[in-house]
Amino acid sequence: MSRGPVRVGLFWHSRTGTTRAAVEMLQAGLTARGAKPRIAEIRPRWDLPYPLWLALSFVPGIRFPLRPVPFPPTEFDRAVLAFPKWTFAHPPVNAFLARWARSLPPTGLLVTCGGWDQDRYLVGYRRRLERAGVEVRAALAVKKRDLPARATQEALGRFADRLL
Ligand SMILES: Cc1cc2nc3c(=O)[nH]c(=O)nc-3n(C[C@H](O)[C@H](O)[C@H](O)COP(=O)(O)O)c2cc1C
Repeated sequence: MSRGPVRVGLFWHSRTGTTRAAVEMLQAGLTARGAKPRIAEIRPRWDLPYPLWLALSFVPGIRFPLRPVPFPPTEFDRAVLAFPKWTFAHPPVNAFLARWARSLPPTGLLVTCGGWDQDRYLVGYRRRLERAGVEVRAALAVKKRDLPARATQEALGRFADRLL
């Protein structure tokens, strides 16, 4: 079996750019560790205004239609699923999981948030992945205001180490 660099697919959704910035930091950390990361946006079929996303996010498990992902998670040795904390549910991510959870390689879960109730949210999504048979290697919540902090950079580095 050939043993080239570890291929990591980073699948992310970001409405206002925070998760995207965290994913780019993680991507740099993975590259520095010799892995080969590629990023793919999870895009809802239509964007909605904030009040509608907020309303939908109160319905646990609700799914929202997606555009096709540019490449499937099955092409990778590892995956990262990165998205913002939205109340109880992230409808586009729920749709992504309904389609792909059963074929995810060992995965890291990265959530950004304003800073309320993110640990329970992270545990909820972790359990959903594990119930689908996914090995969750790392899980991290990053508060938006902490994104520039050195501690966040270090936490993302530890996340990359556990994932690989
Ligand atoms: C619909 C909606 C619901 C949210 N609910 C929460 C929440 O329950 N807890 C929290 O800490 N942040 C919540 N936030 C804030 C986002 O998680 C936070 O700003 C995040 O970093 C935004 O990421 P993004 O820029 O990648 O979209 C919510 C944001 C939106 C749009």
